[in-house]
Amino acid sequence: MGQITFTDLLSQETKRDPVAFSARLREQGPLIHLTSPFSMGESWIVTTYDDTIAVLKDPRFIKDTHKVSKPSERQDAAGENASVIDLFLTWRRDMLTVDPPDHTRLRGLVSKAFTPRIIEQLRPRIQQIADELLEAVQAQGRMDLIVDFAFPLPITVISEMLGIPAKDRQQFRVWSQTIVNVPMEPQMEDKLAALEMFVQYIKTLLADKSAHPGSDLTSGLVQAEERGDSLNEAELISTIFLLIVAGHETTVNLIGNGMLALLEHPEQMRLLRADPSLLPSAIEELLRYTAPVSLSSPRWASEDIPMHGQVIR
Ligand code: HEM
Repeated sequence: MGQITFTDLLSQETKRDPVAFSARLREQGPLIHLTSPFSMGESWIVTTYDDTIAVLKDPRFIKDTHKVSKPSERQDAAGENASVIDLFLTWRRDMLTVDPPDHTRLRGLVSKAFTPRIIEQLRPRIQQIADELLEAVQAQGRMDLIVDFAFPLPITVISEMLGIPAKDRQQFRVWSQTIVNVPMEPQMEDKLAALEMFVQYIKTLLADKSAHPGSDLTSGLVQAEERGDSLNEAELISTIFLLIVAGHETTVNLIGNGMLALLEHPEQMRLLRADPSLLPSAIEELLRYTAPVSLSSPRWASEDIPMHGQVIR
């Protein structure tokens, strides 16, 4: 196996056997140099826990691309993919793409809806959705785990939190998968079209919440934007987009890959069935083992930063 490349990160082979890929990362770590085909240019991956924590906590590593490059520079670097990448990077103004104090402000606006107490209050409704999904397939004696359970469960929960009508939810999966699927298939034009339709949908939703506010999180964010002091329109659209995508893609992967891991390790499945009180620690371990999000979003070095004898710039 040769030096890890950017393409390896996104390949089907890596997806099929992430454990083997992690072993390669550890072998070639702790710092791996990559040349990205996209507008990120030269990139590095840290592979150890200590380095990861150090990078995540170091304010010299920033998330806001506007601070480290101009759109024209990104355009040159990205070549024919520029329009989509530039749209993503320029347009996105949410927690994953901004630094403090903007990050702190945006996080403060949504974190009230995600406190442990509020999430605990959702438990009966989440249980009800799960029960209904299982009851709907019980008589068949078989199910498609992703279509019948893993996707509808989280998308229903996040959509109810955001006040999104049930009829629109299936459409999100198509848009969201078209946008986030890697490698770069489907084609860039399809991703761009999906992104535009998604943004258009969110704009219509926001107009509706502005005219008919409810008790949902979207209405709360629209009212904050209308007060003019808390977030602007780009941040509002981008935050709703992040919540919809982050609120289901991750959990779909956890349920799907977690179940696959249990089927591949029947002795673990037996232990769990025999003692359901193991479930919380099993979920923690499945999160670690199956890694529904295997790479963090990128950080940029705002100055030259020495690491393991190299300079990150
Ligand atoms: C299995 C489930 C999930 C996993 C594995 C997961 C994973 C992650 C990871 C790794 C990050 C950090 C990304 C980075 O900084 O580079 C993140 C951030 C985030 N996730 Fe999740 N996530 C999950 C579920 C959710 C859900 C259900 C929601 C909301 C509805 C959500 C909303 C967010 C938000 C808003 C951020 C940005 C937080 C910030 O920057 O302060 N995630 N998630």
